[in-house]
Amino acid sequence: METIPSLGSWALRDLSCVWHPFTQAKTASPPIPIVKSKGAYLYSESGEAYLDAIASWWVNLHGHAHPYIAEKIAEQARDLEHVLFTGFTHPQAIVLAERLLFMLPRGYSRVFYSDNGSTAVEVALKMAFQAKGNGKKLLSFQEAYHGDTFGAMAAAGKTHYNRPFWPYLFQVHSIPPPLSGKEAESWKAFEATMGAGEIAAFIFEPLIQGAGGMRLHCGKTLARMIEVCQAQGIITIADEVMTGFGRTGPLFACNQLDATPDLLCLSKGITGGFLPLGATATKEFIFNAFLSSDVTRAFLHGHSYTANPLACAAANASLELLLQPTCTAARIMIESEHRQFQRQWKKHPKLIRCDVLGTILVIEYKTDGASYYHPLKQRLVDFFREQGILIRPLGNVLYLLPPYCITREELQKIYSTIAITLEAWS
Ligand SMILES: Cc1ncc(COP(=O)(O)O)c(C=O)c1O
Repeated sequence: METIPSLGSWALRDLSCVWHPFTQAKTASPPIPIVKSKGAYLYSESGEAYLDAIASWWVNLHGHAHPYIAEKIAEQARDLEHVLFTGFTHPQAIVLAERLLFMLPRGYSRVFYSDNGSTAVEVALKMAFQAKGNGKKLLSFQEAYHGDTFGAMAAAGKTHYNRPFWPYLFQVHSIPPPLSGKEAESWKAFEATMGAGEIAAFIFEPLIQGAGGMRLHCGKTLARMIEVCQAQGIITIADEVMTGFGRTGPLFACNQLDATPDLLCLSKGITGGFLPLGATATKEFIFNAFLSSDVTRAFLHGHSYTANPLACAAANASLELLLQPTCTAARIMIESEHRQFQRQWKKHPKLIRCDVLGTILVIEYKTDGASYYHPLKQRLVDFFREQGILIRPLGNVLYLLPPYCITREELQKIYSTIAITLEAWS
């Protein structure tokens, strides 16, 4: 009789039965089997340790396998693992919504749950389009990234990430973001688009565009754009999927803006990196727009695992850790180390830029042509891996976005590895 495969040694496994994301299976090296994690480290079965300099795709906040979060998930699993979220609710979801509303900039009054960053964005887009909007089109920044579902892909405009799907994406107005020195150009494009009067909603990654190249932009110009939109009844959507939960210094990037967007999307760090969860916070006027005695005017959207109690328990535990003074101090330490690195290296002839925003450090290497597929990316990945460091550059752009538990010494090890690429590489 055939038996179900057991969990056993990796050495005996055929890894090829799994199709991996963002991977060209024909040319990529086999994935590294990871069997354990602790603090800022991931461990392979053969015992190699990898210092996780990018918080495993920007999700981990307090370190891997954090015992407090693990314990809270286990406690919740013994009480209630899941319940459908229409017609039912549960304490973890309510407490989490209360905590998020307490922590977010003032003005939000409701939280809608989903499963990941893309769906948090998808929910915001659908809410904006259904709630009102004075026009039909979406406004967004060029080179944005909002996720891989169709709405989220369309929101980003045409980029290299979504090229095979261009014919299927709804049209958006894409304007240049207000990058340093290019604020006037961005504003001009913004005003021209406003003039056409077609815009229903404006979506943006506040202060820094992540997957599009870790590009920082001007918060003041962005806040003015938000204000203009709001004055014209255009719904504004902050995608804080990457920037939320302290990445840019304060708890949210929007804390640094002089305007509060109408919808705010969260995911990634929300559970401290333990379980998938998305959340979209809304202002009351958006919620009110769905109130009607006609059931078809409700927001008819949801997911099987919406507000999963284990994910909410992880998020509640993670937020408790996030609000501890030691976590704030850790983020301040990371930023100050990054700034020291920046002072030392920003003028290096091999660099186009060296930027710091909170716990994020970005360096862009001078290369012949700059694309996501630039061969420098693989060279960097391989070299850092040999040094036991996990990074994932965006072409010629290398960034650090570490878990907050990383130590000064661990940061110094990463900086020295970068220094070798600058000083010793030809
Ligand atoms: C700003 C932003 N929005 C949305 C997403 C999509 O999140 P997910 O990968 O969880 O669907 C990402 C993912 O990188 C992101 O950086």
